[in-house]
Amino acid sequence: MKALVLQEKGQLPVFGEQPHPVATSGEALVRVAAAALNHRDIWIMHGQYPGITLPIILGSDGTGRVESVCDGEESWVGQDVIINPSIGWGDNPEYQANDFTILGLPRSGTFAEYISVPIENLVPKPDHLTAPQAAALPLAGLTAWRALVTRAQAQAGDKVLISGVGGGVALFAAQFAIALGCEVYVTSGSDSKIEQATDLGAAGGVNYRSEDFLKEASALSPKGFDIVIDSAGGEGFGDLVRLLGPGGRLAFYGGTCGRWPTLLPQHMFYKQVSILATTMGSPKDFSDMVAFINTTKLVPVVDRVFTAKDGDQAFSHLDSGKQFGKVVLSFEETT
Ligand SMILES: NC(=O)c1ccc[n+]([C@@H]2O[C@H](COP(=O)([O-])OP(=O)(O)OC[C@H]3O[C@@H](n4cnc5c(N)ncnc54)[C@H](OP(=O)(O)O)[C@@H]3O)[C@@H](O)[C@H]2O)c1
Repeated sequence: MKALVLQEKGQLPVFGEQPHPVATSGEALVRVAAAALNHRDIWIMHGQYPGITLPIILGSDGTGRVESVCDGEESWVGQDVIINPSIGWGDNPEYQANDFTILGLPRSGTFAEYISVPIENLVPKPDHLTAPQAAALPLAGLTAWRALVTRAQAQAGDKVLISGVGGGVALFAAQFAIALGCEVYVTSGSDSKIEQATDLGAAGGVNYRSEDFLKEASALSPKGFDIVIDSAGGEGFGDLVRLLGPGGRLAFYGGTCGRWPTLLPQHMFYKQVSILATTMGSPKDFSDMVAFINTTKLVPVVDRVFTAKDGDQAFSHLDSGKQFGKVVLSFEETT
């Protein structure tokens, strides 16, 4: 089969021939129709991720048709599915088990014509989504759902600030919050991405590169935000905490810009705010998220679809940070 393989750290992955996977007991063999990139794939490509083994087929997000199952429910065969990339979350909804992994490292990922995955990680593909839209959903949708709904307990009417809305997870958080009936504001390093988020239903936004960022963002919600969702961290994190209102919750799922040197206890304890760490999500988070997508008919934003053989260009595109929404690979024309 054909697959996109990372051969060396620091190099773009290469499209080429790979051994066909075999489903072992409890697994399904899925013919991949489309797969989406996440920033995780970029970190791994640059060698900035723990436990990298090479060569590896990357990719955590995929949709396709089940070809066969090994020791499992035969009714899956022929079904169009999306794959939950949380492998082995375990029984505790609060946090993942010690042997939890994410699809696409160390286990071979979705950037291939075929993949074998645990049957328990299959979920029927929402009917209203195309293959690229469905491929966009799993990792980013799951992370956004857990951050916004499970951890920060978003409710209709909450004032929510999503930082870096051009990010795959951030844009899902914004779409979910809008669909829940929250009043949603965004930040971005690009004014045009703020406009695009406003077109989707956000009430407004501020460019995080602005010298007056704190003042401008405070003006959007003078009594503070009920919820802030962030993955940037770094110098700007202290400002995001200051933007919380009384009892506010800040859920964060990444640290792209590193340490939080501007965080002050004095900005937190009197307002009784909570800083909530979150990662991926449980099987229940995933099924709740997909049920919400099915009920609301929400459509993920796909920035651009590349054919799988041009996968190296898809990596460069996401690495450039110019995207708004998910960058997707199509495997429908590889044979
Ligand atoms: N813990 C988990 O389970 C989990 C899951 C998914 C992702 N992550 C992590 O979360 C981060 C984002 O992942 P992703 O896949 O959504 O990334 P992505 O699609 O590549 O998006 C990255 C976005 O980060 C935003 N950004 C960059 N600098 C920023 C700053 N100073 N302030 C605010 N936003 C900034 C940019 O938004 P604009 O373009 O709008 O400027 C950029 O588009 C990564 O660090 C990733 O490793 C963690």
